[in-house]
Amino acid sequence: MVQQQMTQEKKYPLLLGIESSCDDTSAAVVRGCELLSNVIASQAVHSAYGGVVPEMASRAHQQNIVPVVSEALKRAGVSVHDLDGIAFTAGPGLLGSLLVGVNFTKGLHLALGTPLISVNHLRAHVLAHFIYEPGEEHQSPEFPFLCLLVSGGNSQIIKVNSPYDMEVVGQTIDDAAGEAFDKCAKVMGLGYPGGPIVNKLANEGNPLRFQFSKPQIKGLDYSFSGLKTSFLYTLRDELKENPNFIEENKADLCASLQKTVIDILMGKLLKATKQYQINRVAVAGGVSANTGLRDAFADYASRYGWQIFIPKFAYTTDNAAMVAAAGYFSYLAGDFASRDLVPFVRTTLKENL
Ligand code: KG4
Repeated sequence: MVQQQMTQEKKYPLLLGIESSCDDTSAAVVRGCELLSNVIASQAVHSAYGGVVPEMASRAHQQNIVPVVSEALKRAGVSVHDLDGIAFTAGPGLLGSLLVGVNFTKGLHLALGTPLISVNHLRAHVLAHFIYEPGEEHQSPEFPFLCLLVSGGNSQIIKVNSPYDMEVVGQTIDDAAGEAFDKCAKVMGLGYPGGPIVNKLANEGNPLRFQFSKPQIKGLDYSFSGLKTSFLYTLRDELKENPNFIEENKADLCASLQKTVIDILMGKLLKATKQYQINRVAVAGGVSANTGLRDAFADYASRYGWQIFIPKFAYTTDNAAMVAAAGYFSYLAGDFASRDLVPFVRTTLKENL
């Protein structure tokens, strides 16, 4: 037994993951894709401003990063000297936030000589489907599969050919799905981030009560700016007649908004499954926490014979577990980063991951 455990420990590298691309400071330890710890410090400071304030985010990362990394190592029961590599988010994200994680990682690397592994945040969201916890029965998607990546900054359909080969086959041409939730929530005065609040209210509302415009975009691309405008115009017109319109119709507004976003997302995803003849379909990113979207996946699975992969709630929003797991695949490929690496803020529209 001890022998077996030692072989296992030798076979899979022990990696630390660090995530600091936006407003969550997170560190995780994995052995291969087995998760030993995942610590996240979220930044409540932004809620008073209705969105992430970049300068405040970087300052909070600076305060959080040392305790978060220490806690992740402690919970995993490992020392920093045991690590075979340090995987970190190199981008895309907020520059000031990324710089904190990247420079902290470089500091560790200089002190310990541990190899650096640079991770694309979007790729990490997709590879979150390969994380498993000790003793857990886990089914990862076989390749190729399609992944709907939906967050506050991205709405993409990705054809995942392997951990190293991901093709963006559809992408928003303006706002992201999460942004649509957040902006519409903001005009209703619902607080930030709006997505989870809209989701909660939607559970009590009538999704067929209001109709909002849906985009007519060719191919597999998305657009959410028209929906946002149509939502805004509905409120503007109704408020002229009734100043209490939002308060009196909050749940129905949220349910109808959520239904429209989900219809848009699922429509293009269905088209992609047909176009590529792939029925293994995953969802990732912050908006994948949406219970309406999760229900829609289950519904499409039974209607169209999809095999679906839905992440645990802990791996939907930004977390270092996914960064460490993505780092494992780079480690296997011998893909290490140089200490001259600079973080990147954006990936271009159709760039492969
Ligand atoms: O992936 P994420 O944590 O951060 C990045 O954007 O990178 O995603 C955050 C987004 C926000 O727009 C938030 O409102 C949305 O995910 N979100 C949700 C839900 N939970 C988070 N949107 C709809 N329903 C939810 N339950």
